[in-house]
Amino acid sequence: MKRKPLIAGNWKMHLTIDEAVSLAQEIAKSSQGLEDKEVMIAPAATALAAVADAVKGSPVIVAGQNASWEQQGAYTGEISPLMLKDAGAGMAIIGHSERRHIFGESNAMINQRILGALSCDVIPVLCVGETLDEREEGLTMNVLELQVCEGLEGVSSLQIEQVVIAYEPVWAIGTGKTASKEQAQEAHRFIRGVLGDLYEKRLAEQIRILYGGSVKPENVDDLMAMPDIDGALVGGAALQSDSFDRIIHFT
Ligand code: 13P
Repeated sequence: MKRKPLIAGNWKMHLTIDEAVSLAQEIAKSSQGLEDKEVMIAPAATALAAVADAVKGSPVIVAGQNASWEQQGAYTGEISPLMLKDAGAGMAIIGHSERRHIFGESNAMINQRILGALSCDVIPVLCVGETLDEREEGLTMNVLELQVCEGLEGVSSLQIEQVVIAYEPVWAIGTGKTASKEQAQEAHRFIRGVLGDLYEKRLAEQIRILYGGSVKPENVDDLMAMPDIDGALVGGAALQSDSFDRIIHFT
């Protein structure tokens, strides 16, 4: 089963609207003609609509950096999946480690967000990953299993085909310390096994699992050569058009 690689840029809390639009235009240009890969960018909420407009007609998919489980209501500070769609986003990053560890989001909360996104046809990218302490205590696989199982609770076999998973070891995010390609492959293979226990094996083989954590032009080729790594979720290196361009065009 051939999975189409997805290269995703998470811009986090960076860039003004003007800066976001000009970076998006450059990425749209370098993505022209890409047929064998997908490209996604997740700007800050303030720039979503302008970025979606700037990449119209290109293959670039725009994503939110989070999504509420409700469609509307008294939830100050939240953005609903309907609003994301309205602004031109087709996907949403959910359960990013910064949401989990800085803002205290639990697996149960993240699960609600996943279900909310799916119910509005917004494709969720469910992020999972262990902290350094958890890795050193030998708990990596337990943590990943729990995050995947609880994050996907209630997601049907039909819906799972849409979902993207991102493995982002917390110790590799923004630290310049990438997981080795073997460490990443081991975690991806394990996650695919968990998906195979939850759903049919055929479906588990179809789901894309991205690697995130200090992905750079210098390491993307090696990571992407691993059999269960189906793309990258890129932070810092997604903020410069030349480095993101090189990552999109991995070999
Ligand atoms: P860095 O690529 O800056 O390590 O960030 C990874 C990340 O958190 C993407 O979501």
